[in-house]
Amino acid sequence: MRRQPLRLAVLEATRILEDAGVESPRTDAELLAAHVLGVERTELPLVPLVDPQVVDALGQLVTQRAKRIPLQHITGWAAIGAITVDVGPGVFVPRPETDLLLSWGLDLLSAREFPVVVDLCTGSGALALAVAHARPDAQVYAVDNDTTALAWARRNADARASAGDNPIRLYSGDITDGRLFVELDGLVDLVLCNPPYVSRNKTLPPEVADHDPGHAVFADDGGLALIKSAVSLAARLLKPGGGVAIEHDDDHAQPVTTLLSQRKVLSEIADHTDLAGRPRFVTARRTG
Ligand SMILES: C[S@@+](CC[C@H](N)C(=O)[O-])C[C@H]1O[C@@H](n2cnc3c(N)ncnc32)[C@H](O)[C@@H]1O
Repeated sequence: MRRQPLRLAVLEATRILEDAGVESPRTDAELLAAHVLGVERTELPLVPLVDPQVVDALGQLVTQRAKRIPLQHITGWAAIGAITVDVGPGVFVPRPETDLLLSWGLDLLSAREFPVVVDLCTGSGALALAVAHARPDAQVYAVDNDTTALAWARRNADARASAGDNPIRLYSGDITDGRLFVELDGLVDLVLCNPPYVSRNKTLPPEVADHDPGHAVFADDGGLALIKSAVSLAARLLKPGGGVAIEHDDDHAQPVTTLLSQRKVLSEIADHTDLAGRPRFVTARRTG
């Protein structure tokens, strides 16, 4: 059978995904082609012609993506920092914008040795495992209250430990529990938190509404309930000079800033935007 130009197969995939309303059709078509070929997306120009079987396999994945199944559920992984984590049904897919929160945290740690780090609402374990990879000297704690998320986090934690990273300490727990991690009071250098933060009345794209667990996305109090718990925990856990970063919805910069400002022990409160310029996370430091 005759080989075909990959470029044309990707163009056709892009057209189908565009018609299906996928937000970044070209990028997704290229990432799916790279997945089928087992190469990096940047290496696609090195593959001018492909076998008909490759075109068929790409077509099947594009059909799934056109049904608005998340790209990462099709490929089975998502990137965070310098690592990837496995994802699929039942666990939140880490988003590229969360990399910015991670970078802020790693910058804060750069002047510290043997830091203690806590990842609240860890989901797949993404933030905790990315920190453990970047900072082999860190003691990293991670918590979630969902058994399916914890199973994904355990699988990812085992894979990272097998790859040579220091194991993280993974806990089943609820961040609304006032005594969570009480043994770490005043000892933590960095608290990271990407909690559920979407208001329950908000309409979301099918990738999120139908595939991210509702428990990972929505929160009471207009989306702020779990953020309030994270602020309380951070105020208690951080050591003087330690820092907290909390991700939030793009219309929540002001309320989250206010919640952090209301804590006398927190200062240097700052809001940060994502790559699209939307307000995305707020940071603060423990005074003293
Ligand atoms: C938006 S996801 C974030 C996952 C991960 N941090 C990331 O960035 O990919 C929020 C996570 O919070 C967890 N969660 C929801 N309510 C919680 C609670 N009260 N205590 C602990 N974890 C909770 C959910 O199970 C979900 O895994």
